[in-house]
Amino acid sequence: MIHKFERVYVHPSQSPEQVYRDYLASFSLRQINHKFHYDSVKQSQKWLRIHERFSPSRNNPDCINAYKNCFQKAASILDNTSSWQLIGLGCGGGTKDNTLVSYLSNTEKKSIYYPVDVSLSLALIAAQKVRASYPNLSVQPIVCDLLHADDLIHLINKEGEADRTVITFFGMLPNFPPDQIMPILGNFLQKGDLLLLSANLAPGDDYLKGIHKIFDQYDNELTKDWLMTILIDAGVNQENGQIISYIENDQKTQDLKRIGVYFELRNDLNLELEDQLIQWEHGNKVQLFFSYRYNTTMIQKILNQYSINILDYWEAANQEEGIYLCQKQ
Ligand SMILES: C[S@@+](CC[C@H](N)C(=O)[O-])C[C@H]1O[C@@H](n2cnc3c(N)ncnc32)[C@H](O)[C@@H]1O
Repeated sequence: MIHKFERVYVHPSQSPEQVYRDYLASFSLRQINHKFHYDSVKQSQKWLRIHERFSPSRNNPDCINAYKNCFQKAASILDNTSSWQLIGLGCGGGTKDNTLVSYLSNTEKKSIYYPVDVSLSLALIAAQKVRASYPNLSVQPIVCDLLHADDLIHLINKEGEADRTVITFFGMLPNFPPDQIMPILGNFLQKGDLLLLSANLAPGDDYLKGIHKIFDQYDNELTKDWLMTILIDAGVNQENGQIISYIENDQKTQDLKRIGVYFELRNDLNLELEDQLIQWEHGNKVQLFFSYRYNTTMIQKILNQYSINILDYWEAANQEEGIYLCQKQ
């Protein structure tokens, strides 16, 4: 069998120097940047397993239908366009983007899919998944850290023009403070672009009770094992502390809450990371992860602030996930 090279674009935001700076900052600030939980093949495989086990989009038929309804509507909007580009921001394994393509794909239209992820492994998995399903579609994986890539859309547009740009932002909103990611998303979108976005919701009318209801999706052994990987690789061991999770307030957006996951140290710990000595003390809490929970009213309010209109939305019957079809005004 003759293999072909996989051509991957790597944005400077994921250059080794930048990644190393972010890595050291994660340890010295005791706030692990989420991107380091998806970095290695081992981590991305662990995350895919957790996603398959806990994500309603994988195991709840009603939630899967909510996605399909959104895809159907997006496809009807694109009916009269002659070409489109699909950009999957934080594409993960690409399962949702792959289903979306099944609604958009029309062999007569010029089209391209850009799976964009901070993890090379996940960008490649998404690219290969979509290419296997649609061998005639152009697919160009991009490795990029969205937090340091203001020019990403300009670089993509330089590759070629399309009538319509469709951007997916599935499962991403919960993993960034809104005041950090929304200006980036707002700048990325251009007038008329379609944005398909999903968010983890707090089910029911009582926001706090709703968060308690889904708490176990984060407080479990599979998730702890995944989140410990980066610490163990750096020389921390399980005996140095314990993982604790709790509900906390966002520091900037009033009434917004998230589930925070921390590693609380049982003893003082010195870590030698190349030429830098990291000193953690007994009782320190190292932020490993957080996941914001929203309801649709909150999502509407946040998107409005960035001139993004919700054209339609679908909530899974258990109200644990919402899918929003949006357009930049
Ligand atoms: C919760 S997963 C969502 C994956 C996929 N969109 C889905 O819904 O199944 C978050 C994804 O964002 C990626 N990611 C995390 N931080 C990122 C960053 N700063 N820039 C780009 N991608 C990032 C991760 O590698 C991971 O694939």
